[in-house]
Amino acid sequence: MIIIKTPEEIERIARAGEIVAQCQSFLFHEVKAGVTTLELDKLTEQCILDLGGVPAFKGYRNYPNSLCASINEEVVHGIPSKRVLKDGDIIGLDIGAIVEGFYGDGAVTVSVGNVPESIQSLIRVTREALQKGLEQAVVGNRLSDISFAIQTHVEKHGYSVVRDFVGHGIGRQLHEEPQVPNYGRPGQGPRLKSGMALAIEPMVNMGGSGVKILQDGWTAVTCDNSLSAHFEHTIVIENSGPPRILTGCA
Ligand code: MF3
Ligand code: CO
Repeated sequence: MIIIKTPEEIERIARAGEIVAQCQSFLFHEVKAGVTTLELDKLTEQCILDLGGVPAFKGYRNYPNSLCASINEEVVHGIPSKRVLKDGDIIGLDIGAIVEGFYGDGAVTVSVGNVPESIQSLIRVTREALQKGLEQAVVGNRLSDISFAIQTHVEKHGYSVVRDFVGHGIGRQLHEEPQVPNYGRPGQGPRLKSGMALAIEPMVNMGGSGVKILQDGWTAVTCDNSLSAHFEHTIVIENSGPPRILTGCA
């Protein structure tokens, strides 16, 4: 069942989303060669707490940290470690916060130092794919119109969308119905209604779409070792016009 949120509930998700966005912009300045992902995790956790939120990922299904830090061929759910970032890496920063029992969830992929234009293009196309999806997140459309728009944009640029992980409804739970795939035929699935809160999160690989989970039980990597990028916004469908983005600006 897809839960329609009340205005009061949406404001709580918005406050959680605002914390996610602020932590992302703070982290953005801390990402540089020489920093470990565990250091970034500590900063994230402190930032969430300082802003009055609760880290959403820590303890979720026994996930050990507040940040998911996914480097290069890591797709999502990279566990922070003593691994040191180096010039030319790309890193996905996925953050979740809880405010008064409601979740906000967002991710960005950023460059570490100098990254070749061909790799920056992967990041740009993934960000654009999220935008294309958001444009379809309007009342009257069906859920898979979002999916189709994302897949179309990604494949137009010769990249592939990950199928093993999907976006999701969000609210009192981090993962609620419906699942929001980043691929599919248009015109399928439930009609979008005002008050639906969704986390839309394309994961895009430079090579094939296949992914596997490492021995740590969390880190998803591309099967062919190609690079991968990830962007995510928590949004709410509005009565008219584009969705309200709750995890920062588009
Ligand atoms: N944005 C990811 C998701 O929605 C983050 C989850 S990390 C976890 O699935 F540790 F909480 F699982
Ligand atoms: Co998510």
